[in-house]
Amino acid sequence: MVHLTFYAALLSGIATTIAAPTRRSMVVHESRELPLYFAHAGAPNPDTTLNLRIALTANDRNGLEQKLWDVSTPGSALYGQHLSFDETKAFAAPHPDTVQAVTSWLNENNITSVSTSGAFDEWLKFSVPVSTANSLFNANYQLYTEIGGPTQLTRTLAYSIPADLQQHINLIHPSTDFVRQIKGAKLGGPVPNSNSNTARALAAPASCNSVVTPACLQAMYGIPTTKATQTKNTIGVTGFVDEWPQTADMAAFLTKLNTAVPSDTLWTEKNVDFGVDPQHPGDAGLEANLDTQYTIGLANGVPVTYYSVGLGFTDGIEGFLDVMNFFNALPTPDNVLTTSYGLDEASISTSLANQLCDAYMAAGARGVSVLFASGDGGVAGAQSQNCTTFQPAFPSGCPFLTSVGATQNTTETAASFTSGGFSNYWTRPSYQTAAVNEYLSTLGETYPGLYNNTGRGFPDVSAQGINVEIINAGESITAIGTSCSSPIFASVIGLINDRLIAAKKPPLGFLNPFLYANPSAFTDITTGENPGCGTNGFSAGVGWDPISGLGTPLFDKLLAAAGV
Ligand SMILES: *[C@@H]1O[C@H](CO)[C@@H](O)[C@H](O)[C@H]1NC(C)=O
Ligand SMILES: *[C@@H]1O[C@H](CO)[C@@H](O)[C@H](O)[C@H]1NC(C)=O
Ligand SMILES: *[C@@H]1O[C@H](CO)[C@@H](O)[C@H](O)[C@H]1NC(C)=O
Ligand SMILES: *[C@@H]1O[C@H](CO)[C@@H](O)[C@H](O)[C@H]1NC(C)=O
Repeated sequence: MVHLTFYAALLSGIATTIAAPTRRSMVVHESRELPLYFAHAGAPNPDTTLNLRIALTANDRNGLEQKLWDVSTPGSALYGQHLSFDETKAFAAPHPDTVQAVTSWLNENNITSVSTSGAFDEWLKFSVPVSTANSLFNANYQLYTEIGGPTQLTRTLAYSIPADLQQHINLIHPSTDFVRQIKGAKLGGPVPNSNSNTARALAAPASCNSVVTPACLQAMYGIPTTKATQTKNTIGVTGFVDEWPQTADMAAFLTKLNTAVPSDTLWTEKNVDFGVDPQHPGDAGLEANLDTQYTIGLANGVPVTYYSVGLGFTDGIEGFLDVMNFFNALPTPDNVLTTSYGLDEASISTSLANQLCDAYMAAGARGVSVLFASGDGGVAGAQSQNCTTFQPAFPSGCPFLTSVGATQNTTETAASFTSGGFSNYWTRPSYQTAAVNEYLSTLGETYPGLYNNTGRGFPDVSAQGINVEIINAGESITAIGTSCSSPIFASVIGLINDRLIAAKKPPLGFLNPFLYANPSAFTDITTGENPGCGTNGFSAGVGWDPISGLGTPLFDKLLAAAGV
């Protein structure tokens, strides 16, 4: 708090500072090869306006990371003492000297219309013609089109920044990222008529081998059917690419598949980037319906917030960044945030990847469990594709979130499409060192050079992801993907948080140190592999593996481990 007042006072002085023009020596900040799936499509008109953002370095990024470990590691003196918005901002906001140094440089170049944005005022935004951007950053912005896809980008393969500003600038955006349109769950088959077992069983009914319902998950994972009691404990669901949940589908889902939840239960909607929710039946969104039906319909009584991220995104990454800027600015963020979209790690620049990963870190420091579907491309990445080395998925490689893989059948086996492997961007975090090293020692000399043996391994955990029944546009259908698994796991955590908060304890927050410290709170999945890139992929085995993680949740054991 004290820091903030101090910063505000200094900030107001900036406008009056007149920087003397300096000759700057420039250093290359980022460069890359053109990815195979994009083709050069000519030069842009030099007068075309580019909307640029500069990510400023945080006042104390490493201090915030240390806080995250302190509040998230069981046994630490600060465990559970999550940070307030103001405490987080004191670390994550740029230092006033940083704002001043970068603003002065822009002003020297006659760029005076600069605004700040981001949850912690960490972004400077301005618009310039392509020609100005090229000279300012020693860049070469060109047009690129996705081969066989819809994406068109104005990007540069390299750019430079002044050497004396390196300590103040994380990245210029957009620049070297080549992100394709993100994708969600896949459609499975129609639901056979014979299925409709809504009673809780000790063992899951045989029908759960062909169609997975909330009752199946309650049986398999011991998820309570009783209503949660805490109205302020919420689960957030993010939705992208103009996919919206339908209220009529939700009512039909609850009526058919979980009558313990009142059929008129809805979500609270928050809109980002002009997201909407028109409720026209033709606009039903598979992923949005899946994600809301398996939170509202599984975490009985836990309120759900739906973040509808529209096509008005300007962040070059489908709204992934915009939604975190919005979310991290909330005075009371949801205790759990689940996202069932992702992309290939190689498609996003390392600096933008780090910027987003640090946004998840900031959410974790505040006590949010950030969950992501691990991806549906096996070892080939977020989606199936041709490859000569394994492609890690983003953001699963970020160490500050929980990546969820998929399983199938009542005697669970890992689902073959589950993206899993090792990040090329982030090293292995200490919470998983022992678990991952054990896996790598059994892997031995298999796949040399195809994966990164120092990288953060993912997924962390898993849950059912094949033939999950939903209601979409009035029809009973099944969905397939790790897209199913993330909201299911989110519901488990949401219900544990309900018990914790009822017992006057903090929510679980960033999960991984807790999860890896309690491997016996999971059913270890020991069969299945995730083929791709012309290989059989990784195999599930005893202990953690890069296809099922630690395994699938056992509610009562997780609850006991959480101390309630
Ligand atoms: C900024 O504007 C001034 C006055 O119009 C001009 O003399 C100067 O060359 C401009 N500087 C740059 C870097 O464009
Ligand atoms: C899953 O269960 C179904 C029905 O019992 C069976 O036909 C199928 O082979 C099983 N799949 C796997 C991967 O075990
Ligand atoms: C891989 O490449 C082959 C031959 O170029 C093509 O037919 C196939 O569709 C590609 N597969 C994927 C998943 O891109
Ligand atoms: C492997 O991962 C490390 C981080 O653990 C990274 O520094 C290195 O560049 C990666 N190697 C490749 C080939 O991407």
